[in-house]
Amino acid sequence: MEKFFCSSCKRFYSIQPTKWRCNCGSFLDLEFKSKFPIQKILKRSPTLWRYREAIPIHNDASILSMNEGFTPLEELEFNGNRVLIKIDYLFPTGSYKDRGATVLISKMKEWRVQKVVEDSSGNAGSAIAAYCAKAGIGCDIYVPQYTSPGKLIQIQAYGATLKRVEGSREETAEKAIEAASKIPYASHCWNPFFLHGTKTFAFEVWEQMDWRAPDTLVLPIGHGTLFLGAYIGFKELKAAGMIKRIPKMVGIQSISCAPLYQAFKKGWREPRGIEKKETIAEGIAIAEPIRGRQILEVIRETDGEILVVKEKEIGKALKEMGQKGHFIEPTSAATIAGLKKYLRKKRRRETVVSTLTGMGLKSAGKML
Ligand SMILES: Cc1ncc(COP(=O)(O)O)c(C=O)c1O
Ligand SMILES: [Zn+2]
Repeated sequence: MEKFFCSSCKRFYSIQPTKWRCNCGSFLDLEFKSKFPIQKILKRSPTLWRYREAIPIHNDASILSMNEGFTPLEELEFNGNRVLIKIDYLFPTGSYKDRGATVLISKMKEWRVQKVVEDSSGNAGSAIAAYCAKAGIGCDIYVPQYTSPGKLIQIQAYGATLKRVEGSREETAEKAIEAASKIPYASHCWNPFFLHGTKTFAFEVWEQMDWRAPDTLVLPIGHGTLFLGAYIGFKELKAAGMIKRIPKMVGIQSISCAPLYQAFKKGWREPRGIEKKETIAEGIAIAEPIRGRQILEVIRETDGEILVVKEKEIGKALKEMGQKGHFIEPTSAATIAGLKKYLRKKRRRETVVSTLTGMGLKSAGKML
């Protein structure tokens, strides 16, 4: 049976819908043993649920699926370097957040929860709202008032109650946490079931690379839910004897909001306060990443690093990707700008995988 576990004070808890934080205040992880029966996987339809034995939902009847996942892994060239890019804006709600939402809200359904609360920069809120709509679960989504209009409309289109907060992303989270004293908190950053959805990124890459792991992953970091999910996925594959090595994990932040870059450079165990400036990469504008300590540990363990990108570089990458046929949101362009920096020092035979996390139409208003 799976359990919640606190890596800070080493306490265990039974799994329950209202438990989203350890009594010591730290985030919780999920203890769960995954299996990878390749012959069974190959017979299933191309969705992220093909890795059924690795997803912690007990009952098939609880699964809420829109046939999401198994997104293309496309080879693209940047300055003569070939990179494999996971096209994760091809999800039902237009961002990779559906990986986490399909699993977390299936769990909420399994628990027979009637209503949830979530806070987000827009995309996680859209994903949670969509799967709640499918489940018939009510939801209140808190977002900062500066969120792209496309995302605000999307959240409401799914029938969620939109709560716009006059203030920062951090103040938005505070409001949601107040509400979460009465309503289960479907938080993509706090609730580890979300990470046990985003981890399917790793399983798909492994299968699409003929059951091998790449040398390096280059992923965006705001709260790090894709970054940590991908790490968990490769860690589970290693534990099951499917791969030999977890890829080097390289994270990308905007220079306007880079708490983890600062902590990594200074050798700190935890991120500390930063002066946050405005950035077009709204999805990674996270000044206080909940799982900051964990992200820094993963980077050190895998011999990875964090790179930062400037607003101008984000704009340039956005245009360049358009010319390659991919209309992405600025947050995703930030990853590509960082990827291009990383490629300057890539070894000749090193295999690198990155991703396009969000669809351009979501932020079209802001881009205009
Ligand atoms: C399009 C997009 N990419 C990347 C991220 C970063 O995700 P995380 O905060 O989990 O690191 C977000 C988060 O909102 C996003 O919307
Ligand atoms: Zn604890």
